[in-house]
Amino acid sequence: MASISDRMRDALNGQIGAEIHSSHLYLAMSAYFQSLDLAGSAHWMRVQAAEENVHVQKLFDFVVERGGRVILDAIARPPAEWESPQACFEAALEHERMISGRINNLINLARQDGDHASESFLRWFVDEQVEEEASVDRIIKMFRIGGGQPVALLMLDRELAARVLSPAAVAAVTASAAPQQGA
Ligand code: FEO
Repeated sequence: MASISDRMRDALNGQIGAEIHSSHLYLAMSAYFQSLDLAGSAHWMRVQAAEENVHVQKLFDFVVERGGRVILDAIARPPAEWESPQACFEAALEHERMISGRINNLINLARQDGDHASESFLRWFVDEQVEEEASVDRIIKMFRIGGGQPVALLMLDRELAARVLSPAAVAAVTASAAPQQGA
């Protein structure tokens, strides 16, 4: 199979940077929730940061497998404060929508290049984005239902404490950690 085009390699490297920034952002959000003593929300954000690291690894491995060179860039400084816990999750949703737009652009690029392997690879991210946006959207709706009441916030925080790494992320990490035989 042909190597990826230079522009697709550069675009995937850009996406690696965006995913590293995502992990950085969610870690900053986790620290924000820790500062509010909302341990469940802090945990949820830590798991999200770990999911983003899985995205980084998947992209990294794909670029290498396709004969490309991974080049890392500087990571932009994330915010440290948000107006409220709900505002923080709203910022997360806005961020995920931006990432979804980037994935769509990457798929468009793969199609322009006739790069079916990249297009097929990127479909995992399309499905992942649908899931990520839906889960953050659900949390924001619960915040709205709670209407800013402390009891509702504490109940929601307790629920968010139960989050675990998604099966898709666990599978991705396991696959990437396995030694490649006879490739
Ligand atoms: Fe890797 Fe949340 O997008």
